Amino acid sequence: AGTLRALADARARPVHVGAAVWPDHIYNEPDTYGTILPREFNSITLEAHHKWDHLLVDQRTAAVYNWEIADRTVEYAEQHRMAVKGHTLCWPEHLPEFAKALSKAKLREALLDHINQTMRHYLGRVASWDVVNESFASNGSGRPTNSALATHFGDEYVKDAFVAAHQADPNCKLLYNDCTIMAAGFRKSEAVYRMVEGLVKSGTPINGIGFQGHIDAAGGGEWGPPKPAALRTNIRRYKKLGLSCNISEMDVRCSGVIGNEAVRDKAAAAVYSTVLSTCLAEPNFDGVTFWGFTDKHSWINGFFGPDRPLLYDDNYRPKAQYDAVANAL
Ligand code: XIL
Repeated sequence: AGTLRALADARARPVHVGAAVWPDHIYNEPDTYGTILPREFNSITLEAHHKWDHLLVDQRTAAVYNWEIADRTVEYAEQHRMAVKGHTLCWPEHLPEFAKALSKAKLREALLDHINQTMRHYLGRVASWDVVNESFASNGSGRPTNSALATHFGDEYVKDAFVAAHQADPNCKLLYNDCTIMAAGFRKSEAVYRMVEGLVKSGTPINGIGFQGHIDAAGGGEWGPPKPAALRTNIRRYKKLGLSCNISEMDVRCSGVIGNEAVRDKAAAAVYSTVLSTCLAEPNFDGVTFWGFTDKHSWINGFFGPDRPLLYDDNYRPKAQYDAVANAL
């Protein structure tokens, strides 16, 4: 079988198959991380270095940006003919320190200025941006996130952010990204849908929706594996609004599955398989980005506890999860 990249490119309707990266690993582990990345993926997302708080030299002031790591990675992508999927211009819960203290008017100005500067810096070189990430709380309430932006503006800043992004780079694909919104029928996925519907109806320049896709194979509700019918319903209703859908941060936790490692991997592989085949059958689904590719460097280990959420194990051996993705493509 070919690589994931070759499979994605050879489809009748090609899709992006991407990985989120920490640039250091490319250079520190050239024979493993640095070899697999451009061989298997046609798209790159920076796991951290495009975020507002990471780009600033000093979080306490708005003035000085350090583009070095991000730029080097964008160049790397270009050298390897990989697309860059930008993440993210606005993450309300992770505003830089200086922004948290601003008055309402100044905060709006700072956000729009940041969007403008960042998008112009990469004009024509970043295929799509997650313009706004997680405007809704991740507790399933369907309520806005707890941040200065939401407190001051409700959803209003989301529209402003997309308008500013479109002005900065009219050819860039502009995305709204959030977690636990894959399947229709949950409080949060419904709330996000209603917001997006409102944005589209009021003429906001938005092109698509990213479902983060951090899934718990043993979980239930909106954190568990989505039911195919509910996933399909969701993708189709976004299509009716003229929007694409993608999975932007996929990983599947399996430490809660009862059984040995092989059993857990198999359970996670089944989730990858079902979710991706369901999505790929929809014409407005345009790709998947995995939130890393080796368990060795997955954020899950630090955030939720030791796990095997990705396609390769700690030693860069492909697992059942890899085969499931290859078969779905
Ligand atoms: C995470 C990264 O993986 C971590 O390395 C970082 O320290 C914090 O952010 N939802 C998102 C991503 O939108 O940006 C988060 O990434 C994971 C959850």
